[in-house]
Amino acid sequence: MKVLIVGSGGREHAIAWSVAKSDKVTKIFCAPGNAGIAEYAECVDIKAMEFEKLVAFAKENEIDLTIVGMDDPLVGGIVDTFETEGLRVFGPRKNAAILEGSKAFSKDLMKKYNIPTAGYENFDDAAKALEYLETAKFPIVLKADGLALGKGVLICNTLEEAKDGVKSIMLDKNFGTAGNTMVIEEFMTGREVSVLSFVDGKTIKTMTSAQDHKRAQDGDQGLNTGGMGTFSPSPFYTEEVDEFCKKYVYQATVDAMAAEGREFKGIIFFGLMLTQEGPKVLEYNARFGDPEAQVVLPRMKNDIIEVVEACIDGTLDQVDLQFEDNAAVCVVLASDGYPVSYEKGYPITGFENFKDKEGYYVFHAGTAFKDGQIVTNGGRVLGVTAKGDDLKQARANAYEAIKLISFDNKYYRHDIGKAIDEA
Ligand code: AMP
Ligand code: GLY
Repeated sequence: MKVLIVGSGGREHAIAWSVAKSDKVTKIFCAPGNAGIAEYAECVDIKAMEFEKLVAFAKENEIDLTIVGMDDPLVGGIVDTFETEGLRVFGPRKNAAILEGSKAFSKDLMKKYNIPTAGYENFDDAAKALEYLETAKFPIVLKADGLALGKGVLICNTLEEAKDGVKSIMLDKNFGTAGNTMVIEEFMTGREVSVLSFVDGKTIKTMTSAQDHKRAQDGDQGLNTGGMGTFSPSPFYTEEVDEFCKKYVYQATVDAMAAEGREFKGIIFFGLMLTQEGPKVLEYNARFGDPEAQVVLPRMKNDIIEVVEACIDGTLDQVDLQFEDNAAVCVVLASDGYPVSYEKGYPITGFENFKDKEGYYVFHAGTAFKDGQIVTNGGRVLGVTAKGDDLKQARANAYEAIKLISFDNKYYRHDIGKAIDEA
């Protein structure tokens, strides 16, 4: 089978690595890919939003299955385009990817179907939003409705801050059209957990849990990023939490989407907050998490192609999804200055240290080839994942492993997985 993967980050590298393990697969392409993905896949110079070119490529090269890793093309309807052309593709259609593409939609869905989430109001008018803030409780959370690279969420401690936030999102359009509509949401406190799942329209099978570290600096300081590191499983995701979410969140979401005529096939990523009142949904994503995929996929026992095909064919109920009884930690190596401004083009050394090193993975996020060398080419450069028998071992292994990789301006958080000590 020939597989095309759409995307270019650490998540797509983890997907490519998983796909490469499948006996069913004879050839992998990735559009556009990166220098690490090139180890398993032929990288094709087509961008994720160039649907027509991707369709033409898939037809010419007789691609049997396309897996879309990124949110933008999914929300933009890549799956519909492929299906219309008779091509087999994994991911939600546009009318289902809205679960991630519109926060206002997902909040209304949760409200309608009694799925636990923070209280909120949606606004498409800045004056009304500003008026609402006058009597609101602080801190309060402002969210641009649409996709904003994980940056469209503002936590405001005072009325002044919140007013500035509304201006920034709705009037100055700092997140572009994503800010045409806005959600104003109750502030919650608690631990965050990411639970990814495979969905076939009716059946949902959750993967092992993970936790991301979104802020740029140690101690959860600094700006929000795409994610600076992850660990899996989360020790805070207890059986009790799992049971609650199975009862009130997971199947309820899949059923709600089906009831709305928006059958969801693909990955649903549940961003949960474990509050005093129980687990609540912070957000939905319609794809694997990045860097969650880098700790979850290395622990998955199943052939990813079998699971993906079961999702497309609606036979996921027959799949026994299994994960290893161990742990994994991923530390992201970034370019100093990320997520604001940073330099690119520095040579990276040390990859050879990972050759045949079992239980260790270097997933490329922002890398490229230049003059025969692999160089830095993004804010997040690499995700170094290590497994261990337990979380502490995995964390120690990951922090040892990152010493083996060098590049100028290498920056990382020192406290990925520190929360494990509090479990
Ligand atoms: P989101 O993109 O919706 O996951 O939001 C990004 C981050 O903002 C989350 O991972 C949380 O850390 C934080 N956040 C979002 N919504 C809330 C909320 N209602 N209360 C507290 N923190 C929140
Ligand atoms: N790590 C968070 C995300 O993928 O959205």
